Amino acid sequence: MMEIRKITCIGAGYVGGPTMSVIAQKNPNITVTVVDLNQSRINAWNDNDLSNLPVYEPGLDDVVAEARGRNLFFSTDVNKAIDEADMIFISVNTPTKTYGKGKGQAADLKYIELCARQIASVAKSDKIVVEKSTLPVRTAEALKSILDNTGNGVNFHILSNPEFLAEGTAITDLHNPDRVLIGGEDAEAIEALVSVYEAWVPKDRILTTNLWSSELAKLVANAFLAQRVSSINAISELCEVTGANVNEVSRAIGQDSRIGSKFLKASVGFGGSCFQKDILNLVYIARSYNLKEVADYWEQVIILNDHQKTRFAEKIIQTMYNTVNGKKIAFLGWAFKKDTNDTRESAAIYVADHLLDEEANIVVYDPKVSAEQIYKDLDYLGIRSPEENRRLLKVVNDPFEALNDAHAIAILTEWEEFKEYDWKLIKDRMKRPSFVFDGRCLLDSSLMESLNFAYYTIGSNVK
Ligand code: NAD
Ligand code: UGA
Repeated sequence: MMEIRKITCIGAGYVGGPTMSVIAQKNPNITVTVVDLNQSRINAWNDNDLSNLPVYEPGLDDVVAEARGRNLFFSTDVNKAIDEADMIFISVNTPTKTYGKGKGQAADLKYIELCARQIASVAKSDKIVVEKSTLPVRTAEALKSILDNTGNGVNFHILSNPEFLAEGTAITDLHNPDRVLIGGEDAEAIEALVSVYEAWVPKDRILTTNLWSSELAKLVANAFLAQRVSSINAISELCEVTGANVNEVSRAIGQDSRIGSKFLKASVGFGGSCFQKDILNLVYIARSYNLKEVADYWEQVIILNDHQKTRFAEKIIQTMYNTVNGKKIAFLGWAFKKDTNDTRESAAIYVADHLLDEEANIVVYDPKVSAEQIYKDLDYLGIRSPEENRRLLKVVNDPFEALNDAHAIAILTEWEEFKEYDWKLIKDRMKRPSFVFDGRCLLDSSLMESLNFAYYTIGSNVK
């Protein structure tokens, strides 16, 4: 069997960093080097103060503390790490294309191709190349063609090993995965990767398939999860007009073991770097094979999600007498879910944009997201000038600075701490009527009503 002594991972992001930290933690005899072009990201991974790691994940600091410097290293020397490795994971970003053919839908594979070309030009010995990034089905074919045609005559075995961790629970997901999926053609290469995971994952949870099933299963898993959120969000709108309560409906259907209770929480809309990107990619692939009905079916998951974000913003405006101009609206939360500092595709960005169009004054508090990131998200939309974004929206480090004297509060992320606030005190310090728009069904509605808030939550509002 091929023995793996050195692993390199290209891409030190939300996936590469935590995944490799756990592989190193559980395989002390394998040297794991994570490389990235981004010097400041690598510096942050090497920071002695573990609170400065570039990714916030509960438990990550302990894993890094255990393995870093022992058999886990972070570096920008990509060529050296490629040269030395027996196995190379590619864990770079695969965003939606913003130009050319497939713009707005297809996955942009330029970073993947650059990695393949770099591996091919540097490698002087046989390597196993592992796709860790989420990729369109049949990408391994292109990867193999680049590696074989531009390389130095060494052998490359390609495996697909998509990652299923969710942000905010990355370390528990990695320590205790429902399954690890490995797709490939070469039995020895597959076995080599299986042995890395076997250090801590029970063998019956390590699934092996052909390359295409593995690549496609990753897109399909995200599509099914997102579809459940859009399904319950569609029902939330129906609940609001009929007097049903979406939380009660969720509980009632989730008890059916065939349906299951997870991913049935109505919200202001799903965010995150992957659900939308991966479904758009699935839609694009289906269209490229002329499967119109298949493409339309999955596209509806995105359409409904966009509708949910817009509908929440419009509910705020309409409830506040059709004008939010000059009104102070406190945003609790900016991250796309709790326990992460990631804001990619967060619903908060789009709700804020809608309200800023109406000249609202937004004050944001998020326990983990920096002001710099929030302005970056808004500036990236390209709708208002940076000066205008900073004039209309402020970011504060103390939640009470946001809440004091506010006309309304909008809850965009389900951080636990929001539940613990002294809501009576908040009520006393707000303008009247004191509107709360709960985009996460987070707060206790009977408490909010007893305190005389004008409380609106997703999926139950008919009095
Ligand atoms: P990320 O943007 O956080 O990290 C990617 C990193 O790759 C960046 O730091 C970038 O500088 C680096 N990079 C890009 N090109 C490079 C190159 N040529 N050489 C060296 N470094 C390079 O992205 P992420 O969230 O970690 O996602 C990576 C992949 O994993 C994506 O395909 C994504 O769909 C998938 N995925 C993400 C998650 C998640 O929770 N974020 C979960 C499962 C799968
Ligand atoms: C998701 C998947 O859960 C992971 O398995 C996958 O690896 C990852 O995408 C990826 O490929 O990037 P992630 O986006 O990190 O993970 O987080 P989720 O917990 O899936 O939440 C996604 C979004 O859906 C969040 O905005 C969350 O608030 C929302 N959501 C989730 C709901 O609105 N309701 C729910 O019931 C569940």
